[in-house]
Amino acid sequence: MIQVLILYTSSTGNTEEIAELLKKELDQNVFNITLEALEMGNIDSHHLLEYDGILFGTYTYDDGDLPFETDIFCDVLRTVNMTGKVVGVFGSGDTAYNQFCSAVDLMKVEFKQQHAETIQHTVKIDLYPDEEEDFQSIKKLATEFQQTALNAFTTKKVE
Ligand SMILES: Cc1cc2nc3c(=O)[nH]c(=O)nc-3n(C[C@H](O)[C@H](O)[C@H](O)COP(=O)(O)O)c2cc1C
Repeated sequence: MIQVLILYTSSTGNTEEIAELLKKELDQNVFNITLEALEMGNIDSHHLLEYDGILFGTYTYDDGDLPFETDIFCDVLRTVNMTGKVVGVFGSGDTAYNQFCSAVDLMKVEFKQQHAETIQHTVKIDLYPDEEEDFQSIKKLATEFQQTALNAFTTKKVE
């Protein structure tokens, strides 16, 4: 089984809902999935390295910034070499703000800097996922993550 961590920060439940929808889209015969809310300091570097892939979710706060918990998580992430790990990023924001869902882009950069294999497509949802295009976007990330993780895992086993 491929070990996957779906880790998210959510203050009012919108990003949490995306996390749960992503979990439903993944093949549970192939992936052993842990769904976890990010709380201050509950993730250490060893914990991250236990997984083959990570789906990371965050909402966006103050002027396009990272929420506090996500910011603290970055301090841990910056100590970890994510080579060989597959990572997808998702989040909720509000189109009323200029920097819509910019925390999602910031986190994609953070994971790339740690050498993770990041999925090109990101999920950015306006508040709560309830439109057909929201569900399509979530499905797209799940499908691409699944294919990439399967490829990476198969290659690793052959080596
Ligand atoms: C003080 C404050 C600042 C915010 N700033 C942004 C922002 O810059 N960009 C954005 O897309 N959303 C912004 N939001 C909206 C939240 O990201 C949005 O409500 C989101 O759905 C919250 O997700 P959650 O339910 O997972 O906590 C802000 C919300 C608050 C309360």
